[in-house]
Parts: sequence; C-alpha cells; structure tokens
Amino acid sequence: MNTLKETKTNKYKLILKQLVALHEDESDHIAILANASALLYQYLNEVNWVGFYIWKDDELVLGPFQGLPACIRISYGKGVCGTAIKERKTQRVADVEQFPGHIVCDAASKSEIVVPIIINNQIYGVLDIDSPIKNRFDELDQTYLEKFVNILEDLLH
Ligand code: SME
Repeated sequence: MNTLKETKTNKYKLILKQLVALHEDESDHIAILANASALLYQYLNEVNWVGFYIWKDDELVLGPFQGLPACIRISYGKGVCGTAIKERKTQRVADVEQFPGHIVCDAASKSEIVVPIIINNQIYGVLDIDSPIKNRFDELDQTYLEKFVNILEDLLH
C-alpha cells in the first residue's frame, strides 16, 4: 500500500471511530445525521456538499446536510439519489454531466457518490456527497463510506 493510500485509510478509520464515539448512547435521528454530515464535511477534502435524503411517503426528502441549500424532494429512480434507491446500490459518478438525469443542486458539483441506507431491509434514505472536481471518489472512498453507512444503519435501527 502506498503512503497516500495509507493516509487516506487512516483518515477514514478515524472518521469511523468518531462516528461511533459521538453517538454510542444517542438515539435521536436528526442529531445523529446532523453530526454525521458535519464529520464527513469537516474531514474529507475536496467536497462541497455532504448530506442525507430521507425516504418519506415514497420519495426522498432533504435531511441534515452541510453545504449550499439543495433541492428538497427527489422521486424514486430520479437523479443519482433516486437511482441509488431504485437499485439499492452505491452510485459512484466520476462526471455528473455524463449521468443521465443527474439533478443539479450546486453547479460547482462535478462528481458524486450516493450510498443507500437500508435498515431491516427497508429503505431509510441515502448519504450523498458532491465534489467540485471530477473523479473525486475511488474504490477506497466507496468501501469506507459504505462502512460509515453500515455504522449509521446500526445507530438508527
Ligand atoms: N445530484 C443529486 C441531487 C442532490 S444534490 O447533489 C445535493 C442527484 O442527482 O440525485
């Protein structure tokens, strides 16, 4: 493993530890999601939006986030977020302009990763992260952001 990768891995390990440490005895969903978005926004570099959309009455609704104000409602199967819900699978988009139906919230966003949050086999929502540079998210980001969401799924169940 090269040094850069080690640094990135260590940084993610620290983020995961903090996510657990901050919320061990907490059950309030808004508080947990608000801190989780702040944690990622503070410690990841080259990101301009980090937040959550929550599944409510058959659509995604904006939840706690960091960054510019964003669109509030996203339908099933629409945009990167709605696709992550439909496919129940992480969407890692190197260039948002190439993603059919991508929903523009901040024109600065160039790449994006969306991880679905599924609790007891039910859709709960998504974690959405935007970057102002293309190709910001690699496989290592995906692996650790999925671990991050797994911890959240435990905290929110
Ligand atoms: N780009 C997303 C919409 C949400 S914003 O990025 C905050 C999408 O296409 O679903």
